[in-house]
Amino acid sequence: MAKQIKITETALRDAHQSLIATRMTLDEMLPILDKMDKAGFYSLECWGGATFDSCLRFLNEDPWDRLRTIKDHCKNTKLQMLFRGQNMLGYRHYADDVLEYFVQRSVANGIDIIRIFDALNDIKNLQTAIKAAKKEGAHAQVAISYTTGPVFTDEYYVEYAKRIADAGADSICIKDMAALLTPYATESLVKAIKAEVDLPLQLHTHYTSGLASMCLLKGVEAGVDMIDTAISPLALGTSHAPTESMVAALMGSEFDTGIKLEELTEIRDYFMTLRQKYIESGLLDQKMLATDANALIYQVPGGMLSNLLSQLKQAGKEDQLSEVLAEVPRVREDSGYPPLVTPTSQIVGTQAVFNIITGERYKMCTKEFKDMVAGKYGTTPMPIDPEFRKKIIGDMEPVDCRPADLLEPELEKLRAEIPQWIQQEEDVLSYGMFQKVALDFFEKRRNAQCGINGEKLDKENMIHPV
Ligand code: CO
Repeated sequence: MAKQIKITETALRDAHQSLIATRMTLDEMLPILDKMDKAGFYSLECWGGATFDSCLRFLNEDPWDRLRTIKDHCKNTKLQMLFRGQNMLGYRHYADDVLEYFVQRSVANGIDIIRIFDALNDIKNLQTAIKAAKKEGAHAQVAISYTTGPVFTDEYYVEYAKRIADAGADSICIKDMAALLTPYATESLVKAIKAEVDLPLQLHTHYTSGLASMCLLKGVEAGVDMIDTAISPLALGTSHAPTESMVAALMGSEFDTGIKLEELTEIRDYFMTLRQKYIESGLLDQKMLATDANALIYQVPGGMLSNLLSQLKQAGKEDQLSEVLAEVPRVREDSGYPPLVTPTSQIVGTQAVFNIITGERYKMCTKEFKDMVAGKYGTTPMPIDPEFRKKIIGDMEPVDCRPADLLEPELEKLRAEIPQWIQQEEDVLSYGMFQKVALDFFEKRRNAQCGINGEKLDKENMIHPV
């Protein structure tokens, strides 16, 4: 029986987040959006993840304006975003009122599919986001943070998938951010989930270890419905399998994507020119494109590896990278085996660095590590030894409820803090997540509107009535 495999093109979000530190600008996207909209993709992943932070922090762009502009050009294809559950696009837990409002504004500005995940795979951290997405009429996809380790059997993931289905998700994604899947592990996992849970299943894996296309093919054969790919100039390395190659691989088979290769040529040509520009400017480091099966040994996502290295460099201890990499799994074991994805990858990584450079394990603990051990990020996949917990958090009260239940509503408070900067109702959300970074952006925006710094007054970007 023929089954058309659906393609999510990631060029506008994960591909550039993985290869060029999320620096693709809206201006660079604009010329090709109409063509991408007509290629026959199931969805365009184009927002959320690190793009929001990057827009405000580095690109001097309003992320909401970016979303509206993409929507203006893409009326045929669903727009998709990545959302870190109760952390939204920031790095802490937000109160439900802020989350609900964020989801409402995302959908109102053009998002169709919200891919929601939690770093600890704690369903409690996803319930509000799933409900909010459904309420706004969006497709709520829940992503399983995939990792490896003694507890992470197919049964563990099937149990989690069942809970996701019970929570009302419209589809499930296996999110292999650290490129740990192998083709046969994929086959086994997909079959196991498909046998127990009757929801569309998507596969997201990275090319880092060189296995992504094989995993995708095995996944498709085992029952996956949608796959994530990146147009070839932004594929491979730490990014995804090339879109054209996957389309070609399935062509004429029972899994044909329905996309014509000819439809992708112009898109490829366009991004090839952009890629050349990134290489010449140094933004695209050739190292990111190399295959490294050592990812399967280190078991840390690519971005985490470069973070560890830069933290060690700052301390003048870059020769201790291998000790830190050996410490990471031990810290994970102590702290209940968190999968390594934002923000747990930073929390575990920084603690591993501290453990090594101070010469004594847990002599110094970050606030975030204490919070995670205390349960403030949610329930870890494995219970934490009470003695270890006591040693790390001291008299701090452990949390075992849904962490967001401890938060007071905060939307009105946030609004009251920045009335002078609000030009559109979404600004309060940018501020809520990124505080000072958002304020700096608001100031630059106002200066530009007033013609300060020689920048032209731009009516387009001026006032969206509140
Ligand atoms: Co990814």
